[in-house]
Amino acid sequence: MKKLSLDRILQSQGFGSRKGCRELIEDGEVTVNGETVTSWKTEFIPEGLKFTVFDEEWEYRAQVYLVLNKPSGYECSRKPSHHPPILNLFPENMEWRDVQPVGRLDHDTTGLLLLSDDGAFIHAQSSPKRHQPKTYRATTARPVDETLVQSLLKGVQLIDEPAPIAALSARQLGEFEIEIVLEQGKYHQVKRMLAAAGNHCAALTRTAIGELQLADLDLAEGEWRFLSEAELAILQRQG
Ligand code: URA
Repeated sequence: MKKLSLDRILQSQGFGSRKGCRELIEDGEVTVNGETVTSWKTEFIPEGLKFTVFDEEWEYRAQVYLVLNKPSGYECSRKPSHHPPILNLFPENMEWRDVQPVGRLDHDTTGLLLLSDDGAFIHAQSSPKRHQPKTYRATTARPVDETLVQSLLKGVQLIDEPAPIAALSARQLGEFEIEIVLEQGKYHQVKRMLAAAGNHCAALTRTAIGELQLADLDLAEGEWRFLSEAELAILQRQG
């Protein structure tokens, strides 16, 4: 990888415009490998570069792959209408990097959400051709019973869909709790399927995407982190 000037490196990492990044550097707000660098012309090999901005530590990343344990009360859309955007839960440079969620969760749904600035990754993960199963745990308003489980497995007719849609799997977890695995990612799909099967979704959490399990990520609600190479490989494994 070839060397780049520090202002370009910072800009690529979402720390603002070229001019803004030059100012940060000249103001002494940036260190590289432990040393304050005040000339924006100083060149570094970006790969593996460790730097700080306002004392916060960063490592150069050509692209970012993030995982969030989404709390309730945040919208996945960029221009939310009723609730704050999920990007409020991330440092500002992630918004500058144009990080986008992979698919969407409703404002009141919690759990596993991936985000990235890699368009090819977002496209591949959300493509219906990928058949990436998503696992949800729903709390229901009425008791879960075998009839509900069987209806979801057999398929329920949703308004505006040409044919009934079935869950890949469905199992009762408790009197008012059911786990549903879906292959598609249609609008309000779990809530609509539960309603079509005669129940009502009172609360919803996404607990897994493919084989990536929320429980293994050690993230409290509202917390995020970068995905590890191993976690990315789990997601990219062909199903
Ligand atoms: N299904 C829903 O109804 N809502 C979500 O947020 C995700 C899946």
